[in-house]
Amino acid sequence: MRTPIAKSWPIVHPVRMQGSSAGDSRETLQTPVLTDGDVVLRVATERDADAMTAGLADFETARWLISVPHPYPHEDSLAWICEVVPTGWQSGKQLWFVVADATTDQFLGEIGLRDVDRSAAMAEVGYWLAPAARGRGAARRALQLLVAWSFDDLGIERLDWAAMADNWASRAVAEAVGFRFEGVRRSRAFRISDATRHDECVMGLVRGDLSL
Ligand SMILES: CC(C)(COP(=O)(O)OP(=O)(O)OC[C@H]1O[C@@H](n2cnc3c(N)ncnc32)[C@H](O)[C@@H]1OP(=O)(O)O)[C@@H](O)C(=O)NCCC(=O)NCCS
Repeated sequence: MRTPIAKSWPIVHPVRMQGSSAGDSRETLQTPVLTDGDVVLRVATERDADAMTAGLADFETARWLISVPHPYPHEDSLAWICEVVPTGWQSGKQLWFVVADATTDQFLGEIGLRDVDRSAAMAEVGYWLAPAARGRGAARRALQLLVAWSFDDLGIERLDWAAMADNWASRAVAEAVGFRFEGVRRSRAFRISDATRHDECVMGLVRGDLSL
């Protein structure tokens, strides 16, 4: 069953897709605020930086994220919030949200789309939660919101998902939202923090899966 979502469009960072001309609103990709009443997806601000650094510095987070250095420098959070995320929204190729508590706005983690190809209507999801935010279904709720927005508003037809094959918590979250197991790519995940290789599980979600 689809999660009922409340969507508002007070634009946190209004951005214009590259190549669009002034006044051409068709090309403008706005950053929405999505909520189901329990979690909210919104764009990161500098106020999130300390909590982001603490979450990513935790080994239990970093071990599952192949491109996160360990130890994790605070400057990387600031660069992510101030440069990488806005650039991603501007180009339309990476669309990242903070997952926050809908009541307190406390930072819980991050979720987003990478490798967004709107002409092919495909993207890959990614997410992580700070250790204290786990175990209450926040990742599942956040992923449901992201999936609904991707299909309903972005016109995505297929979402990719990939993780280290033994990341059972992340697999459970994706499967709960409807992603289907598609296989294991041997030695495909290269973790930069310790330069080790891991088998990678891949899953996918296509529009037709949502109506089954
Ligand atoms: C993946 C992650 C976001 C899940 O967060 P969460 O919502 O708190 O997840 P939970 O702890 O509630 O577990 C989610 C599900 O996985 C299950 N699970 C947890 N650990 C498990 C394990 N070792 N083996 C099997 N299932 C497990 C839980 O039982 C739960 O299933 P349920 O909803 O059917 O009860 C979080 O663990 C995280 O941020 N991990 C580090 C970063 C990461 O792995 N990101 C994803 C990379 S693709």
